Amino acid sequence: MDSKNVVAFQVVTFCICLAVANSVEFSYPAVFNFGDSNSDTGELAAGMGFLVVPPYGKNYFKTPSGRFCDGRLIVDFLMDAMKLPFLNAYMDSVGLPNFQHGCNFAAAGSTILPATATSISPFGFGVQVFQFLRFRALALQFLQVSGKKFDQYVPTEDYFEKGLYMFDIGQNDLAGAFYSKTLDQILASIPTILLEFETGIKKLYDSGARNFWIHNTGPLGCLPQIVAKFGTNPSKLDELGCVSSLNQAATAFNIQLQSFCSKFKGQYPDANVTHVDIFTIKSNLIANYSKYGFEQPIMACCGYGGPPLNFDSRVSCGLTKILNGTTITAKGCNDSSVYVNWDGTHYTEAANQYVASQVLTGNYSNTLLGDKIPFLL
Ligand SMILES: *[C@@H]1O[C@H](CO)[C@@H](O)[C@H](O)[C@H]1NC(C)=O
Ligand SMILES: *[C@@H]1O[C@H](CO)[C@@H](O)[C@H](O)[C@H]1NC(C)=O
Ligand SMILES: *[C@@H]1O[C@H](CO)[C@@H](O)[C@H](O)[C@H]1NC(C)=O
Ligand SMILES: *[C@@H]1O[C@H](CO)[C@@H](O)[C@H](O)[C@H]1NC(C)=O
Ligand SMILES: *[C@@H]1O[C@H](CO)[C@@H](O)[C@H](O)[C@H]1NC(C)=O
Repeated sequence: MDSKNVVAFQVVTFCICLAVANSVEFSYPAVFNFGDSNSDTGELAAGMGFLVVPPYGKNYFKTPSGRFCDGRLIVDFLMDAMKLPFLNAYMDSVGLPNFQHGCNFAAAGSTILPATATSISPFGFGVQVFQFLRFRALALQFLQVSGKKFDQYVPTEDYFEKGLYMFDIGQNDLAGAFYSKTLDQILASIPTILLEFETGIKKLYDSGARNFWIHNTGPLGCLPQIVAKFGTNPSKLDELGCVSSLNQAATAFNIQLQSFCSKFKGQYPDANVTHVDIFTIKSNLIANYSKYGFEQPIMACCGYGGPPLNFDSRVSCGLTKILNGTTITAKGCNDSSVYVNWDGTHYTEAANQYVASQVLTGNYSNTLLGDKIPFLL
């Protein structure tokens, strides 16, 4: 067994130890969320004027709502479970945004590493953390100047302290890198990505955050966009039809993310750190879709019927283009509730609901509580 295998083996043992006594403790006065399109509730749309068009949102909001989905996201279902209103995007300024119970800094296309000139979103994780710190400072200043009666608009200091800090980011660091790097280069870059993540998390801790809820990244290789780009040669695909190298990178990232969670908890015993295994939930959904009421595990719902998985990067969901002299519109499928994938890159509301329901069982989370450090058991 070489040293790489030993590390992987320890992590697996650690998961099994922790799988014993799980339950989802879910009552927080506020939620502060950081991430990418998996949990963007309108940030890229507000911050960059990014146009999210119908049929996005058609299933639930009846308008695109800035979400990259036909309806609600995992974070929306989790807010529901906490009996809190949906999170407003930090940059939403019209329509009475209310931030009393939290704020969402997640923006589609965001990476953990700082944005570059070619990034879709300039709001990398570090920027999101700075936005939060400014939000916190201004909210507290506002309450101090204007009086406690305004605590129905912004969180109080107590809410910042007792609130839940949620994270779902890293997917774009990995998937984006495959366009220009080899698998080995990407695997080698994971520690650097996680160092940047750690820097942000520590800033939040220093500002008083204590409850951390960290989603790992999903099976990226199963997204139609990825299969269309990197899976044209069948030898690149696994038995589910997913691109193996992308899932390998996601798995490597997740193992190191979990180690980071344990290390962080070890350094800050007064923090609660919950690691949620989204990868396993989504992989199980894709592999065993019919058991959960789905008919299409990988095929995109919204498209024009072109290329194998109803995904063509030239015609995004909701848009009309002329291809080879023919006018083509990428439309939603008739029944998105039987599709796992919405637009080639994002999951449907139905899939998000399933994932959230699994998260809420507690069966996929390791909560590192109190001063116990299970990693060292
Ligand atoms: C950590 O979680 C436990 C159980 O949910 C809770 O009782 C405790 O107050 C939390 N600690 C902090 C610092 O919020
Ligand atoms: C699919 O379901 C079977 C039976 O419950 C399970 O053993 C398997 O792990 C599942 N597949 C995935 C990828 O989770
Ligand atoms: C357009 O033409 C190219 C080249 O003939 C072909 O590969 C492609 O599939 C066509 N696209 C559509 C949407 O028909
Ligand atoms: C969608 O519904 C329309 C109208 O009921 C029907 O004509 C069409 O064949 C359906 N498409 C699919 C892919 O089922
Ligand atoms: C959690 O997992 C256990 C063991 O696999 C299973 O028996 C239980 O039904 C699961 N709980 C829920 C709520 O799905």
